Amino acid sequence: MTQYKIPVIPGDGIGPEIVAEGKKVIDAAGEKFGFDVEWVEFPQGADHYLETGELISLDTLKELSRYPVIYLGSIGDPRVAPGVLEKGILLAARFYFDQYVNLRPIKLLEGVWTPVKDKTPKDIDFTVVRENTEDFYIGIGGKAKKGLSKNLLEVERNLYSAKFGLEIETDSDEIAYQIGMISKEGTRRVIKYAFDLAMKRKKHVSSVDKANVLSDIYGFWRQEFQDIASGYPEITTDFNYVDAITMWFVKNPEWFDVVVTPNMFGDIITDLGAMVQGGLGLAPGGNINPEGTSMFEPIHGSAPKYKGQNKVNPIATIWAGSLMLDQLGEKEAADAIVAAIEKNILDNKVKTYDMGGISTTSDVGDDIARIVSSM
Ligand code: IPM
Ligand code: MN
Repeated sequence: MTQYKIPVIPGDGIGPEIVAEGKKVIDAAGEKFGFDVEWVEFPQGADHYLETGELISLDTLKELSRYPVIYLGSIGDPRVAPGVLEKGILLAARFYFDQYVNLRPIKLLEGVWTPVKDKTPKDIDFTVVRENTEDFYIGIGGKAKKGLSKNLLEVERNLYSAKFGLEIETDSDEIAYQIGMISKEGTRRVIKYAFDLAMKRKKHVSSVDKANVLSDIYGFWRQEFQDIASGYPEITTDFNYVDAITMWFVKNPEWFDVVVTPNMFGDIITDLGAMVQGGLGLAPGGNINPEGTSMFEPIHGSAPKYKGQNKVNPIATIWAGSLMLDQLGEKEAADAIVAAIEKNILDNKVKTYDMGGISTTSDVGDDIARIVSSM
């Protein structure tokens, strides 16, 4: 029997409740498909931060980097200023592990209601490949008051480093600025990942940018996209400005197969994608480093107002668990979990409030685990 050791960070808010259901379903899949998981719990999150001052230490990151995958609940808590935990834990991990692909399937399952009128599961089945380490997420910027000032901004990555020595002169009372940066290496590797993925799917890749306005950064993105595309003659492509793609996601989702996007636009359009596939309660994501440590999580947040109520939908997290098993090479188990989610939804009996039901978080986890065992 294959043994896995998987670190799990339940995190904040509803994180512990939904992760418990994800573990339950994966354990059931293990029994069925011949593997066993030893879960190793990590305390990172708001409570741990408030008690110890640690967000996520270098020692913890180093320890986690010994594992191929991490299972994550959700990060964010109203007792801590916005961004502190998100940047200090979630983004710190994405960057440290160089998880340059944020994989977000947008798939309408059978039996799920979509707010997009007249669209069915065969119309809504694509995957967003979001670049996950660069763009406006590198976190460098600042403020400058009237007059002359200097600022040295640095980005440190395994792949490269970059320094910006700024000399600022302004007669405005005060300015604020944020630098977005993409690199040739960072751009090419994620676009290549998208093309390789499309080769296993419907062989179409859509690029997202805003090359008509932010032409330095996204004109560069588009140029690298075209260059990679020329190496994949079997694959068809199209270009979309980010504002327009929000329209197409709603109007013609059936056009899409693999959508590759810079980080910030990817953040925005995948919340829309989540709604198109039936709601945030159903949308999973994977932060992937194909050669390193990957991390799987629902794309929704920690929903603090529902904490401890055993009320929210665990399906996004259970589905993220399926993506995690897929990454480990347990394809059969991964597919079985998605099929079990689909059956739970079609049965239409055990469902949480967001899907019009009255069942609890753990009822839904129990039901999906039971279906996996009975397959
Ligand atoms: C997401 C989230 C994060 C992001 C936040 C919490 C830092 O919105 O995973 O989409 O912006 O990437
Ligand atoms: Mn987001």
